[in-house]
Amino acid sequence: MEETEIYSAAVACLENTLAEGNKTSNVDIQFMLGNLQKCQGLVQELVSQERDPLYSKALLYLNQGLVSQGNILEAKIRQLNDDKAQQVPKCPTDSRAEHHNEGDKQQASRRSAIDDTIIQKGGLTFIDIAGLGEAKQALTEAIVMPLHYPQLFTGCIKPWRRILLYGPPGTGKSRLAQAVSGEINSSFYSVSSSDLISSWVGESEKLIKELFQHATSQMGRSVIFIDEIDSICRQRSAREEEHTRRMKTELLKQMEGADNSDQADKIFLLCATNCPWELDSAFLRRFQKRIFIPLPDKEARIQLIKIHTKDNNLQLSEEDWNLLALKTEGYSGSDIATMTLGALFQPIRDLQAACFWKCLPDGKFTPCSQDCDGAVRTTMSELPSKKIIQREITLADFLKSLQTHRRTVTDTELQKFENFTQKFGEKG
Ligand SMILES: Nc1ncnc2c1ncn2[C@@H]1O[C@H](COP(=O)(O)OP(=O)(O)OP(=O)(O)O)[C@@H](O)[C@H]1O
Ligand SMILES: [Mg+2]
Repeated sequence: MEETEIYSAAVACLENTLAEGNKTSNVDIQFMLGNLQKCQGLVQELVSQERDPLYSKALLYLNQGLVSQGNILEAKIRQLNDDKAQQVPKCPTDSRAEHHNEGDKQQASRRSAIDDTIIQKGGLTFIDIAGLGEAKQALTEAIVMPLHYPQLFTGCIKPWRRILLYGPPGTGKSRLAQAVSGEINSSFYSVSSSDLISSWVGESEKLIKELFQHATSQMGRSVIFIDEIDSICRQRSAREEEHTRRMKTELLKQMEGADNSDQADKIFLLCATNCPWELDSAFLRRFQKRIFIPLPDKEARIQLIKIHTKDNNLQLSEEDWNLLALKTEGYSGSDIATMTLGALFQPIRDLQAACFWKCLPDGKFTPCSQDCDGAVRTTMSELPSKKIIQREITLADFLKSLQTHRRTVTDTELQKFENFTQKFGEKG
């Protein structure tokens, strides 16, 4: 097969896997696994044909990702098989017991799905988030302070309980939520909407109910973070399927219930979306704060590049930083992260083309120009691989990467967010 054919076949396998995983009932996990493994084989074939080390590396990363997703699916299949094996042999006369068993099994799998959403104190904190000062401030007031200083939040001072983060794709909403989990010492449930609509775990509304119950049963306050909330809280429509309607009603009930019950202050709900206008107004109304997460400003753009190059050697002057900040106007945080990665790879690319090398005091070799003192004419493959190091990253690397990595959020999209913020939100 030609390289492009292999590539198309691999994409088709991934699309099959995705389509199966998006089904709301009767998901065939074996089929998903089969497709994933086929895709893995094709990617390996691509690796064997690829000459460019950068692409090879990217393909190898992709392959690692496929292997780990495959392992997750295999574990899921094992878990489902074990559940089946553990079922008590059927007794034809006792259908109630059988029903009960089935219920237990579903409850156990919901329970394990909930356990999967609990994330341990993450490595990220607010320092790892560039800009977004007001959003950090609001989250500190709403979550971090009440957990650290509960005595301050008595009487009529009640902490915020439900916050919506919204903004263009790649501006750091999910990352900010992860950072919250690193700032606190209480239980943090990180749920994506697809976890909630997954048919592997039984009925979704039960899952939502049990998730909130689990969170309230914890010592102290818990945080539930639902990412991409728009995919379950879309405006209601006549064509909506029954199970989606039931799930939304349950979520609304839980949001409401948390207000009325004695456990009112025990749950803090944080949600994120990049299309807030798609949210049902009943949900929108229930968020006490709706914080706009904008594109990074000049300062934040510099900070973003620094965060994403913190372990690399850069050779940039004050003016270079300013120029980069100007050139990245309109880029989202994730655009800047990708552009920066492109720049970081530039010196590695140059290694292959380098014809002149110099030996550093520690015995390592790095590319240099022909007229450099002590320059030796040789190629990368002639040198001991462990002794090769890349040069520092310069402004030229960033400028080159900027030519291929453009901004992804359009002005029209930004205008939509501005309009929404004027009507419903506040800037973060
Ligand atoms: N403010 C930021 N500080 C540091 N890194 C950021 C920031 N914003 C974005 N990034 C980078 O961009 C990547 C994507 O960010 P993230 O997933 O949080 O975006 P998002 O707003 O949740 O996007 P989406 O709406 O598409 O879900 C992060 O992994 C991080 O590398
Ligand atoms: Mg996100």
